[in-house]
Amino acid sequence: MADLNELSEKLNGIKAEIKEELNRLDSSKSVFEYRKLIFDSKTGKVGSLMREMGKIPAEMKAEYGKRVNEVKTWAQNVFEEMDEKFRREEMKLRYASEKIDVTMPSMKPKHGYLHPNTLVKNQTVDIFGSMGFEIYEGTEIETDYYNFTALNTPDDHPARDMQDTFYLSDKFLLRTQTSAGQIHVMEAKQPPIKIISPGKVFRSDDDATHSPMFSQMEGLVVDKGITLCDLKGMLDEFVKKIFAEDVSTRLRPSYFPFTEPSVEVDVSCFQCHGKGCKLCKGTGWIEVLGAGVVNKKVLEGCGIDSDVYSGFAFGIGIERIAMLKYGINNIKLLFESDLRVLEQIAE
Ligand code: PHE
Repeated sequence: MADLNELSEKLNGIKAEIKEELNRLDSSKSVFEYRKLIFDSKTGKVGSLMREMGKIPAEMKAEYGKRVNEVKTWAQNVFEEMDEKFRREEMKLRYASEKIDVTMPSMKPKHGYLHPNTLVKNQTVDIFGSMGFEIYEGTEIETDYYNFTALNTPDDHPARDMQDTFYLSDKFLLRTQTSAGQIHVMEAKQPPIKIISPGKVFRSDDDATHSPMFSQMEGLVVDKGITLCDLKGMLDEFVKKIFAEDVSTRLRPSYFPFTEPSVEVDVSCFQCHGKGCKLCKGTGWIEVLGAGVVNKKVLEGCGIDSDVYSGFAFGIGIERIAMLKYGINNIKLLFESDLRVLEQIAE
């Protein structure tokens, strides 16, 4: 550097250049980049002046340093001001873009619905669970022995015609009733027995109220002194909880090979309260399930002493209960998973 005048000129030039460039800056980032450029100790317009200090003759050094520093401080201040200005603007923009209107109505989350079958199954399990029943789940493929023979329905028994069976082989079939589970439970355990057994069953049957696959809930209680009255008491409790408090049951004589006596259980019509309507076909009563006192032959076949123990069993059709409870007139609606149907049965 020849003399201080030259330096002043140079510094003024740099200042002018920086001022000029400041007009082109448009963000805090561009300020940052430009500042880096100017102050770079090797290539920067101001930074390199500081570096050159070493080469300045001793008598000029103090003045040189002072003037360069002035410009440096000036530049630092303008950059800082610019940076602050841009940051403020950028923050404002960010706040505007991230603004949340807390007065907007919230988005309703779309949630799923439990299938009517699942609802009825869960409720039934809860009701009997609260009476101390345990759950036993059988298998959908059964042997002819467990589904029929052990349930007092030997090969040539006319009751086999009551249920059109899907045979898989001579020995294996798709169970037609959850009653098959009764035998497994009684073979495995001596009384007291108190189980319910939910599951799918299969019959070659197909119309508005029958489907080749449907669900049942078996109930079995075996202990000392169990009678039909215990059955009626528990079923009364069940129908009150599943339908309505003012619903009661009535037992009608029926026939199942594995129960003696056997009954069909009707509930008083929860729609017309006994006056007679379409649902109860004018009778005031609706048939809901089959039941009975466990046949002594079945107990004995499972190694349970029928002089000491007695029991009752029942078989609830889950779809039938769901159709009655939710006013569904075709069983197919329960298997189509049509959301328009399912959404109406949100419970
Ligand atoms: N298993 C019979 C059916 O499917 C119902 C039933 C179960 C009847 C238990 C009596 C006792 O029709």
